[in-house]
Amino acid sequence: MVVKALTTQHSALKIQIWGAKFVGVKLGILGLGTVGTGTVQLLQDAVGRNPLLQEVEIYRVGVRSLDKPRDVKLPQSVVTTDLAAIVNDPAVDIVVELMGGLEPARSLILQAIKNGKHIVTANKAAIARFGAEIFNAANEAGVYVMLEAAVGGGIPVIQPLKQALSVNRIHTVTGIVNGTTNYILTRMQTEGSDFGDVLADAQRLGYAEADPTADIDGLDAADKIAILASLGFGGRIHLEDVYCEGIRQVSKTDITYAEKLGFVIKLLAIAKSQGNNHPGLSVRVHPTFVPKSHPLASINGVYNAILVEGEPIGQVMFFGPGAGAGATASAVTSDILSLVAALESNTAVPNPLLTCRHEDYCQITPVSQLLTRFYARFLTKDHPGVIGKLGTCFGNYGVSLESVVQTGFQGALAEIVVVTHDVKEGDFRQALDEIRHLEAIDSIASILRVL
Ligand code: NAP
Ligand code: HSE
Repeated sequence: MVVKALTTQHSALKIQIWGAKFVGVKLGILGLGTVGTGTVQLLQDAVGRNPLLQEVEIYRVGVRSLDKPRDVKLPQSVVTTDLAAIVNDPAVDIVVELMGGLEPARSLILQAIKNGKHIVTANKAAIARFGAEIFNAANEAGVYVMLEAAVGGGIPVIQPLKQALSVNRIHTVTGIVNGTTNYILTRMQTEGSDFGDVLADAQRLGYAEADPTADIDGLDAADKIAILASLGFGGRIHLEDVYCEGIRQVSKTDITYAEKLGFVIKLLAIAKSQGNNHPGLSVRVHPTFVPKSHPLASINGVYNAILVEGEPIGQVMFFGPGAGAGATASAVTSDILSLVAALESNTAVPNPLLTCRHEDYCQITPVSQLLTRFYARFLTKDHPGVIGKLGTCFGNYGVSLESVVQTGFQGALAEIVVVTHDVKEGDFRQALDEIRHLEAIDSIASILRVL
């Protein structure tokens, strides 16, 4: 017996209830690219995995082109270009959105929710932008929206934040959450490779987004840290409040200086509480000098890691493959499994550890108020007293210097590298404005934050 769409007395939440006999779950999968193919392959090879997977039927799969060669075999009747028909099909229980992009993904998810279907998605771009609309609709319709694959590829981090870690007060979430940029920075560092060549490899390996700008410019990491911050700090995040810098400006020269000074350069995504006396959260993505002794410094290649710090747990780090077909399919399928288990558990009450019910927005601290260390590289005329003038300008704005080195020349220009102590970003920027006007300064070649 199947009983559908019960409404609880105290809320508008509804949930499909499976009665005495569980009858299996039908999937409508939207997208059969890198992640869709990996997911279908995993589901078609269920032996030796969780037995609940055998309850799952790949019922419909939606693609853009029927003529494209595929790495999976599916009956012709299963594959369609009519994605609307999938989300409107009464037989489909779970819509697995693996097409990516904003539209039509958003509209199809919302239509599926309206039709009472549970959602599994890997689409961090859509969730980071339309999360409020999607979760409001899901709570209203009494369905779950699962997104383990949206952050960290194969790494289980969404469910741990929602469940096991949710008893902690989270202080900081710091992650390497973009596989493409970590792969590029690692190869630039270890092989001295050129940015463009390594990007082409990342695209060939299926790590990069369809438009790699999202990876390179930090936008993909910004989407992901907005999602992690929301779960870790229990409030929604306006994506436009996330400060974001990508890796385009990271040069081989900076990578070499980092190495000499005892650092590696990583694109970090950081969400940090400003402490009890400073309500607010800083949420940001930028290339960062990471001390070689820091746990995130050794995360290389396409691997991702997320370091969560909270009370009373202290530090926990999640590490694993952050992109790619098999790894991401593992996360997608774990969400399908959670839904199968929820449907099978025969309860009218939605599991609060699977739902997402925040409605308030987190207060975000502007980047000018941040306290952080900086690395800055200046190209200067080889005049006596330049270092002293730099020190005076920084001192005028209360910027204290940890080290100043002059090791090289770029043509006729001297290269001076400065690392500061913790400073307020606004003060540092004011000092730089003054330094820029010094007669001896040719240019400020780079500025990076230091962890
Ligand atoms: P992909 O390889 O580009 O595949 C997209 C699939 O969706 C293709 O099968 C495409 O059909 C189909 N599709 C796209 N737009 C469509 C439309 N308008 N109508 C019908 N079908 C459409 O993308 P992917 O790398 O698998 O990524 C999918 C999602 O997973 C994205 O949200 C991405 O951010 C996320 N993700 C990816 C990874 C990764 O490692 N790649 C990791 C974590 C999360 P055709 O095949 O016919 O073109
Ligand atoms: N393009 C993304 C990355 C895929 O490189 O991390 C995984 O979300």
